Amino acid sequence: MFREVLLLGGLIVLGTHVWTLHKEFVDISKNLDYFVASVHFAVAWFNEDNVEEYTYKLLGVGQAQQKTWTMIFLMDLEMNRTTCKKHGDDIDSCPLQDGAGQKMVRCTFVVDARPWFSQFSLLNSSCSAG
Ligand SMILES: *[C@@H]1O[C@H](CO)[C@@H](O)[C@H](O)[C@H]1NC(C)=O
Ligand SMILES: *[C@@H]1O[C@H](CO)[C@@H](O)[C@H](O)[C@H]1NC(C)=O
Repeated sequence: MFREVLLLGGLIVLGTHVWTLHKEFVDISKNLDYFVASVHFAVAWFNEDNVEEYTYKLLGVGQAQQKTWTMIFLMDLEMNRTTCKKHGDDIDSCPLQDGAGQKMVRCTFVVDARPWFSQFSLLNSSCSAG
């Protein structure tokens, strides 16, 4: 009886440990297909949600992480304001704003990717001007 209780206790500790591991974000390659797709989604979401007139363009990716056993990605992105209005030209060839209009934002996004359904959803975002 006493031994069973001990064993059960051990299992609970082990179970909690495994669960914690599964919840961890670990560093991944910035070139991973699904991560890249999630970054594109996050930038598009940011521009869609942003009240400003001009589109922001991705300049760099800082932290790139994936939650273990999931397709949930965490990304730190740096974006600058371009001279292109939304839904206009191709952002990639769009020049950045200079002088007074120049602006950078740094954001952390958490994206849940379901690429096989072409579905992405934003779980979290926080941005600051930088
Ligand atoms: C992006 O904007 C920031 C803030 O205005 C500026 O310091 C930085 O040089 C810009 N980056 C580029 C590549 O223009
Ligand atoms: C979202 O971000 C905030 C601030 O960084 C954090 O407190 C919160 O736990 C996050 N929520 C999720 C679902 O990750």
